[in-house]
Amino acid sequence: MKVISHVVALSNNSVIGVDNNLPWNLKTDLLHFKEYTTNKIIIMGRKTYESIGKPLPNRVNYVVSTTIDQIEGAFVFKSTQDAIDDAIDYCEKENKKEIVIIGGGFLFKDTLPVTNKLVLTKVDCDIAGDVFYPDIDFSEWQELSSERFSKDSNNDYDFIVSTYERVT
Ligand SMILES: NC(=O)c1ccc[n+]([C@@H]2O[C@H](COP(=O)([O-])OP(=O)(O)OC[C@H]3O[C@@H](n4cnc5c(N)ncnc54)[C@H](OP(=O)(O)O)[C@@H]3O)[C@@H](O)[C@H]2O)c1
Repeated sequence: MKVISHVVALSNNSVIGVDNNLPWNLKTDLLHFKEYTTNKIIIMGRKTYESIGKPLPNRVNYVVSTTIDQIEGAFVFKSTQDAIDDAIDYCEKENKKEIVIIGGGFLFKDTLPVTNKLVLTKVDCDIAGDVFYPDIDFSEWQELSSERFSKDSNNDYDFIVSTYERVT
């Protein structure tokens, strides 16, 4: 079975975005994101793509959109299911093991039922925002690892990066 993961940073009140941007500066978490996703297939919604502004290098970029047909350097799909199906085929052909959903709110909600791994950056703040991560029933998940990072000049808040695998 392929690994289909979510990589997401969320606040204590589950905020992940504001005004089509990230609500914080967490340089260390961005490095973690880059390291985790490099050489993998990443799937994102159109708004997250626009927020990033370009395909991310050294990753296979999939964008889900009903309003954009083509993006240079990325594959565009009309539905989340089409993107997942194609990504699974791509994994088979290219011997890749993991498909990473990188957001935003629509994509995380759409794909939670087929996701079997979570890489959560839990940002220690309660913050105003307009996009939220869906509620997770943690009885369905087992924690595999957890690493704590402290607020410093590069990072606005304390945060913990925790990895889970689905058990049910
Ligand atoms: N904290 C984090 O880890 C993190 C990660 C990623 C993003 N974000 C934040 O999340 C926010 C963006 O999230 P969002 O929820 O507004 O948007 P999004 O999920 O990035 O993109 C939504 C768009 O994707 C397309 N889409 C989504 N589901 C679809 C479906 N089932 N079928 C067809 N198209 C579909 C649609 O594009 P069309 O309108 O073109 O049809 C939709 O408008 C930003 O603030 C961003 O910074 C945070």
